[in-house]
Amino acid sequence: MKGVILAGGTGTRLYPLTKLMNKHLLPIGKHPMIHYAIDKLKEAEITDILLITGKQSAGLYTDYLGSGKDWGVSLNFKIQDEAGGIAQALSLAESYISREEKFVMILGDNLFEDNLKPYVERFKQQPNGAMVLLKKVPDPKRYGVPLIHGGKIVKIDEKPEKPLSNFCVTGIYMYDGGVFDVIRTVQPSQRGELEITDVNNAYAVNDLLSFSVLEGWWSDAGTFESLHEAQNVLSRGRERG
Ligand code: DAU
Repeated sequence: MKGVILAGGTGTRLYPLTKLMNKHLLPIGKHPMIHYAIDKLKEAEITDILLITGKQSAGLYTDYLGSGKDWGVSLNFKIQDEAGGIAQALSLAESYISREEKFVMILGDNLFEDNLKPYVERFKQQPNGAMVLLKKVPDPKRYGVPLIHGGKIVKIDEKPEKPLSNFCVTGIYMYDGGVFDVIRTVQPSQRGELEITDVNNAYAVNDLLSFSVLEGWWSDAGTFESLHEAQNVLSRGRERG
């Protein structure tokens, strides 16, 4: 299986730090943030990786990562010209993934403890469709929130005022090669972005969206508070929380 890492976006919630450089290059522990997503794919034995970045700091990614040789992975790069949403960024991977292939996508600001291997193996057994990884969180309003009924995800609400569960959809997704056709059916949201939640809901409506719940520590380092938490956890070398 191949992997796709998204590291574009504007990082407005981390402004003015992100005025200087792209969010995924900010330091966490001993490394820039992007380091961890690559480590996690490698740990799951996924070594063909497409990294999608914005124009800002694009050269710094190649300075730091090169070909991926130091990680034992093979890296390819694509540029997302404008931050048109997670699903729009993912659409840029279409020429990298063949129709019959399944793949994993990680949002580069997601930091977590679990080894993805067992989840990837579970997804390989699934004939087609998509899988999302969930985590119980104290503040679901910040995320995509699933409504789970009868062991299935009925729908996902993006940043709801009134969350229907205490779970969030983490930025770790697995798709079949049909996802690019699904993205073509999605319309821009009110904030003008192609939302990954709409893509996932299209799978859910057709009963093709499975899920697992992460067991270990997880954070999305998109705000100063969560960036600080991730820095504390990862610099102590402690990943469980
Ligand atoms: O972290 C999990 C959450 O990520 C999910 O629960 C939400 O459903 C999902 O929409 C997303 O929410 P965020 O508000 O955290 O998304 P954000 O705009 O911060 O972007 C997340 C990552 O995706 C970040 O690493 C940058 C990348 N990205 C984002 C956009 C909008 C891109 O590469 N291109 C983009 O155009």
